[in-house]
Amino acid sequence: MNEKNIESILKEQRSFLPAASFTKAARIKPDDLETLYKEAEADHKGFWAERARRGIQWDKPFSTVLDDSNAPNYAWFTDGELNVSKNCLDVHLDARGDKTAIIFEGEPGDRRTLSYAELTAEVCKFANALTAQGITAGDRVIIYMPMVPEAVIAMQACARIGAVHSVVFGGFSANALRDRIVDAGAKMLITADGGNRGGQIVELKQAADTALTNGCDTIETVIVLRRTAQDVAMHEGRDIWWHDAVDGQPDTCEPVPVNAEHPLFLLYTSGSTGKPKGVQHSSAGYLLHARLTSKWVFDLQDDDIFWCTADVGWVTGHTYVAYGPLAAGATIVMYEGAPVFPDGGRFWKICQELKVTVFYTAPTAIRALMKLGDELPLSYDLSSIRLLGSVGEPINPEAWIWYHEVIGKERCPIVDTWWQTETGGIMLTPLPGVTATKPGSCTRPLPGIVADIVDEEGNTVDSPDAGGYLVIRKPWPAMLRTIWGDNDRYIETYWEKFQNRFYVAGDSAHCDADGFFWIMGRIDDVVNVSGHRLGTMEVESALVAHKRVVEAAVVSRPHEIKGESIFAYVVFRGDRPVGDDEEALEKELRDWVGEQLGAIAKPDGIRFADNLPKTRSGKIMRRLLRAIARGEEITQDTSTLENEAILDQLRGKS
Ligand code: PRX
Repeated sequence: MNEKNIESILKEQRSFLPAASFTKAARIKPDDLETLYKEAEADHKGFWAERARRGIQWDKPFSTVLDDSNAPNYAWFTDGELNVSKNCLDVHLDARGDKTAIIFEGEPGDRRTLSYAELTAEVCKFANALTAQGITAGDRVIIYMPMVPEAVIAMQACARIGAVHSVVFGGFSANALRDRIVDAGAKMLITADGGNRGGQIVELKQAADTALTNGCDTIETVIVLRRTAQDVAMHEGRDIWWHDAVDGQPDTCEPVPVNAEHPLFLLYTSGSTGKPKGVQHSSAGYLLHARLTSKWVFDLQDDDIFWCTADVGWVTGHTYVAYGPLAAGATIVMYEGAPVFPDGGRFWKICQELKVTVFYTAPTAIRALMKLGDELPLSYDLSSIRLLGSVGEPINPEAWIWYHEVIGKERCPIVDTWWQTETGGIMLTPLPGVTATKPGSCTRPLPGIVADIVDEEGNTVDSPDAGGYLVIRKPWPAMLRTIWGDNDRYIETYWEKFQNRFYVAGDSAHCDADGFFWIMGRIDDVVNVSGHRLGTMEVESALVAHKRVVEAAVVSRPHEIKGESIFAYVVFRGDRPVGDDEEALEKELRDWVGEQLGAIAKPDGIRFADNLPKTRSGKIMRRLLRAIARGEEITQDTSTLENEAILDQLRGKS
C-alpha cells in the first residue's frame, strides 16, 4: 500500500433524525436545503451575490462579485462599501432597539444586560473615544481583555471606524502578546486591570506592561477597563482608564463606510512553525458568512437565547459571539469565567437561570464536564435548551452520546460544526432541522461551500471510507485573505501543495457512503503504520470509548519495521495505574483498540498520566507529546502548560 491512502477504520453506524416538531419550526427545512444546494451548484457566484445583496446593508452596492485575477488571493464584492458595526447594531434599532443583545454573567456572579439600543450607544461612545485618541481607519488595535461586554464593545467600535482589531486571548502570556503587537504594528492596546478566572485574578494589565517594556514602540495609547478594581500601575501619558476615555463622548457615531475587502480583523493562530500567523479577514465576506451561518446552523429565532461559550480570543468568539448572532439580531450570553467555578455545575446553572435555548461549546469542555458525572447536569433544569453545538476538534462518539442524552435529553439536535480560524465561519455541519446526524461526523458542506477529499495527486478520493486531504474547491466569501505581512506564507500554507487549485485545510478526512465527512485530524497527526495511514483522532476516540478512559492523545514514533508506530497517552478514571496493574491495563486497552478499530491500530506503547498537556484553548499539545514519545528534545514553548511537572510523568520518570 502506498502512502496515498489515508485509511479510515472507525465505523460509527448510529444515526439521529431531528424531531418532526423541530423540523416544522426550523428556518431551513429539508426542501429548502435541497433548493439551496441546487442554486449554489448551478451558479456559485450568483448564489453568494444574492445572499450578499439580501443579507447586508450596503452603503454602496457592489457590481463585481468575485475578483479572481490575483488568485489565490481572492476578493469578493470588491467595489461595494459597508460598515460591519452598522450591520450588527443600527440595522436592528427600529424593529428591536429594546431587545436584549447581551446578557453577561461575571465569574463572581454579577450580571448585566444590554439592549441593542444600549449596546449601540456604548459602541458609539467608545468609537468616539478611539477617534479622540487618534485612531483612524486601517490602524491596528490590540484587544487583550477578559470575557466581558466591553470586549465586544471594543471590537464593534473598531469596526465602526474602520480600525483593524486583533484580539489576543487573555490567557496568553506577556511574550505572546508582545509578539502579536509587534507583528501587527499596533498603535493601541485595550486591556483591563484584570479578569476573573477560577476564583483568581488574571493580571492582564501587569502582563500588558511587561509586554510593552520590550520592543512595542508602535503602541501610543493603552486603554484600561476597570473590572477587578485591584491596584494597577498607570503610565502617565500612555495609559488612560476606559471610563475616562468615554467620559463626555456622545452616544452617537456615524459608522464609517469601508470597502468590502477592508480588513476587519487579524487573528493570530499557530501553524506548523513556531511563529504565529496573523490570519486576515475581510469586512463584507466575513460578515455575510457570520450572519448567514448564525441563522442557518443555530436556527436563531427571535426568542432564542444563544450561548456560545468561546472566548473572544478565539475565532469562535469572533464569529459566534461578537459578530454573527448580533448581525442576526439575537440575544447572546457572555460568561466571564471558568466552567468549573465554583463547581462543575456552573454552565448548567447559567443555562437554567438564563433560559439558554441554543448552547454551543467544545468537545474538550464536554469531556471535562462528562468526567464529573451526571449528577450535576441532572440537578439543573435544562429544559429550555433546544439545540446543541460542538466545535474545535472531532467529538468522539461517547462524548457525543453523553451530550445528546444527559444535556439534550435526546430531544435536541447536535450540530457538529467543522471550520477553522482561516475559514471565518462554519463550513461543514448538519442543519439542525434537516440532517440525520451521526455521532462524530460533521456531515456535509453548507450550500455554497465546495468541499472535497483528494489524494496526494489532488484527485478526488471516491471510494467510501478512504481518507485524504480535506480541500475546498471554490473560493468562499469568508475565506482568509492573506497572512498579515507574509503573503508567501499564505500561499505556501494553504495553496501550493496542489498548485493553487484549491484551499488545503490541513486536515485529513474521509467521506462515507452517504456523503458524510468525518474529520480524522490534522495532516501532521496522521500515523503511518506499516504503510497504513491512520488518523490519530480515530485511535483516540477508540481509547476514550473504553469505560475507564477519560482522555487520550495518540502520536506516532518511528519504528524499525513498521515505519511508524502508535504511542498513546491515557488519562484514567480514578487513580493512575502503576506496576502490575499498569501492565494488565495496557494489554486490556491494546486489545480494546484492536477490537474497535482492528489490530493495525493497536498502540505499541501506552503511558498513563494524570493529565495531558494542553494549550489554553484546551487543545492537546500533540507535537509536544510526539517529541516526548520520540525521546526528542522539547523545543516547543511549554510556558502555557498549567502543570509543567506533568512532563516528567509523561516521560515516564515519575
Ligand atoms: O482540525 C480541525 C479542528 O480544528 C482546526 C481549526 O482550529 P482553529 O483554527 O483553532 O478553529 C477552531 C474553531 C473553529 C481544524 O483544522 N476542528 C474544528 N472543528 C472541528 C474540528 N475537527 C473536527 N470536527 C470539528 N467539528
